[in-house]
Amino acid sequence: MTTKNTSGRGQRELRVKVKTARGRKLSSTRWLERQLNDPYVAAARRDGYRGRAAYKLLELDDKYRFLVPGARVVDLGCAPGGWLQVAVARVNALGEKQGKRVGTVLGVDLQEVEPLAGAEAHVLDFLEEGAEEQVKVWLGGPADVVMSDMAAASSGHKQTDHLRIMALCEAAAYFAFDVLEEGGTFVAKVLAGGAEGELQQLLKKNFKKVANVKPPASRSDSSEKYVVAQGFRGRSSSDASDEPV
Ligand SMILES: C[S@@+](CC[C@H](N)C(=O)[O-])C[C@H]1O[C@@H](n2cnc3c(N)ncnc32)[C@H](O)[C@@H]1O
Repeated sequence: MTTKNTSGRGQRELRVKVKTARGRKLSSTRWLERQLNDPYVAAARRDGYRGRAAYKLLELDDKYRFLVPGARVVDLGCAPGGWLQVAVARVNALGEKQGKRVGTVLGVDLQEVEPLAGAEAHVLDFLEEGAEEQVKVWLGGPADVVMSDMAAASSGHKQTDHLRIMALCEAAAYFAFDVLEEGGTFVAKVLAGGAEGELQQLLKKNFKKVANVKPPASRSDSSEKYVVAQGFRGRSSSDASDEPV
C-alpha cells in the first residue's frame, strides 16, 4: 500500500493506493482502495457508527427533519445498524434528552443485527408471506416514520438490480400506507432505471410532499437516490388497492 498527494496544490490530501496482491481480484483491490480513501468510512470509524450509511440518514434528516423526539420509527433493511444508531439518538429512544418525548425504533433485516440499546431488531425477510403482519405485531401500533434502505445483493446486471430494489421499495411503501400515522414520513432508497415513475405517482397520491434526493454521502458513481415522502394523507386516501407499481 502506498500513499500519494493527489491535490497538486501542496495540500496534505493523501490518497492510499493499494497494489494488486497475488490471489486478490482487481475488483477487491478497487473496493479496498475506495474504502481506504472514503472520508465517510473514516468518519464512521471516528464517530462510532456501524457504517458510512449512517451519514446518508443524518443528511436526509438534517434537511427534512422527520426524526423528532418521540417519533416511532420502523427501519426496513437495518443491518448492520447505522440508521438504527442515528434514529435512536434523534428520536430520544433512550430518554437521554431531558424533558423531551421518548421515541421507539424497530428494525428488521435478513441478517442478524448486533444488539443496540434503544432499538429492537429482528431477523426477517420483508418480502416473505406474512412479514408485514409480523412487523405490525412487533410495532404494536402506528408509526410516524417508515424508512427503507433495503437493497438486494448486486447481481451485476443494472436492470435486474433496479427492478429488485423497486420491488423492495414498493413493498415498503404499501407497508407504510398501512401503518403510518396521518402526517407521517416515508423514506426509501431507489435506483435510477425506469420503474420509478409509477412509484412517484403512488407516493404523490398518498403524501403532501415527495422529494427525490441524492445525499452527499451517497457515492456519486452509484445510481442510488432516496425518496422522502412527507405528510401522509391517511388511510382513507391511501391507494393500497392500486395495482402494484
Ligand atoms: C445498505 S444495507 C442497509 C444499511 C443500513 N441502513 C445501515 O445503516 O446499517 C441494505 C440491507 O437490506 C437488507 N435487505 C435486503 N433485502 C431484504 C429483505 N427482503 N428483507 C429484509 N432486509 C433486506 C440487507 O440484508 C442489507 O442488510
